[in-house]
Amino acid sequence: MSGARAVTTNQPDIYDKLEEVVRKYASTEYLRPIADHTRTAFAEAEKFVLNFYKSAGHEGGAVRGSYKVILDSGCGTGESTLNIAIANPGIPVIGIDKSAARLTKAGAAPRNAFLVRAELLDFWRLALGKVKAGMWHIPYHALYYPNPWPKQSEATRRFHLHPIFPTLLQLGDAIELRTNWEIYAREFAEAAHVAMRVATPDRTIACEAFEPKQPITAFERKYKEARQQLWRVTINHV
Ligand SMILES: C[S@@+](CC[C@H](N)C(=O)[O-])C[C@H]1O[C@@H](n2cnc3c(N)ncnc32)[C@H](O)[C@@H]1O
Repeated sequence: MSGARAVTTNQPDIYDKLEEVVRKYASTEYLRPIADHTRTAFAEAEKFVLNFYKSAGHEGGAVRGSYKVILDSGCGTGESTLNIAIANPGIPVIGIDKSAARLTKAGAAPRNAFLVRAELLDFWRLALGKVKAGMWHIPYHALYYPNPWPKQSEATRRFHLHPIFPTLLQLGDAIELRTNWEIYAREFAEAAHVAMRVATPDRTIACEAFEPKQPITAFERKYKEARQQLWRVTINHV
């Protein structure tokens, strides 16, 4: 897997209409109807969380009446979900991906990991419903190596230039985005700055190059072997 190619793009810098696009979506709600298959998948994830906390020895995971849940969005083969679950044995970790082909490559999971096939744009809105209802508390949300949509003409398919972005920003005390494309990282951080000036200001945003000692996702391993520079954006509550 050492031949991973770096992102090629016709976009020289961060998207020139970023501020306009993010501001527009910051004051609107994404209303596309939620697909039935993601409602079903979400119900399975919810059941997993409930059963996890009901089972012996894990009652302490609930905080202020909410269940702590970690999300690993776009988990691919689920390697990161497993790694995050091992590092956080007291919290259920839900890995979400729309690709059945990738999910079926997942290895043996610890008992606090759950992989689910679903559309993120829908799953996130259902998850935010649980957070707003005080039922879920998301301490950490991983967004590792999302599809970059590197052509300039595809820019508004990127999560941070899409109407879903205000929902995503509300999902997680800490949100961590990883990417092998510097422009994507800088855009994500800038979009978060713009959105937070409009709505949720009490967050810190950091954007930096980083080198994982031990790769924790399939793509991270591929990029590391190809000696590509990796980038990380972290958004935390102040
Ligand atoms: C580049 S891969 C990264 C996978 C994994 N995080 C890793 O680092 O190995 C991006 C993943 O996001 C998933 N994905 C992209 N858009 C999605 C969406 N809207 N809903 C669900 N999954 C999505 C793809 O199926 C793919 O597995």
